[in-house]
Amino acid sequence: MTMKKSRRIRKAVIPVAGMGTRFLPASKAIPKEMLTIVDRPTIQYIVEEVVDSGIEEIIFITSAGKDAIENHFDYDYELDMVLKAKGKTEMHREVQHLADLIDIVSVRQKKPLGLGHAILSARNVVGDEPFLVLLGDDLVLAERPCCRQMLDLYEEVGESIVAVQTVPQDQTFQYGIVEGELKRERVHEVTKMMEKPAPGTTDSNLAIIGRYILEPEIFEMLARTTPGHGGEIQLTDALLAMALKRTMYAFEFEGTRYDAGDKMGYLQAVVAYALHHPQLKDGFRQHLLEVAGGL
Ligand code: G1P
Repeated sequence: MTMKKSRRIRKAVIPVAGMGTRFLPASKAIPKEMLTIVDRPTIQYIVEEVVDSGIEEIIFITSAGKDAIENHFDYDYELDMVLKAKGKTEMHREVQHLADLIDIVSVRQKKPLGLGHAILSARNVVGDEPFLVLLGDDLVLAERPCCRQMLDLYEEVGESIVAVQTVPQDQTFQYGIVEGELKRERVHEVTKMMEKPAPGTTDSNLAIIGRYILEPEIFEMLARTTPGHGGEIQLTDALLAMALKRTMYAFEFEGTRYDAGDKMGYLQAVVAYALHHPQLKDGFRQHLLEVAGGL
């Protein structure tokens, strides 16, 4: 494995411009990123993962109708006054904490041309430095935040990294799939990548999940990427172009990933996060046992 001098990563790009069609009708008037998992919206878990990993700035890529996401992480003076006046100190502290978490910048994706295009919209705000990308649908429950695990590897290798997990072979068509050479436990050097390959196209079942560390050169690649799968500008296509030019790693992180943008994945996430919630876990476990006993 090549060991290159790495630069510090300060920024995380979180695309939230998607329409959330997989979650209709719930996502018609509410951004899917604002759907609640136990006691907070999905996007808050993503932002907290970024904060817990030591990142300094978040760049949301937004579209019309996504104001609720920005408002969630902003001060709300009226709410502030009401909670103070009512003496709800604990709740006040929690709401205040949301606005103090991290610096947030928003950039509009002007047209819905795909994930690659969304990331390219962040070019001027990111500038010439490596950065993280987190997709809002992918929640990772882990002892050490998934992003932090990736940053640790990046500090060693100084090259772009995509987070991957193995998926059943009959599900590979739903993901970006990586082929690579295993370099050490959990770390593969990428040799090929395909966005949502047709069944039988690849023997690999290493699926990209929504966490990436990218060298700024990716913007050059994205600017040159033509529409791919689904007629959209695919991040995976630009990643392949970069992997062929310089080294890129696929990293099997430790933790469990939930696709919170899918109805079944969302339900699984709610159960998993409830079973980890300090105040709710015991009562909820008891309830689940009772329900299971009655099935
Ligand atoms: C995106 C990426 C895909 C990746 C997936 C992970 O697809 O394009 O490569 O495997 O996220 O969630 P999407 O699910 O947005 O269609």
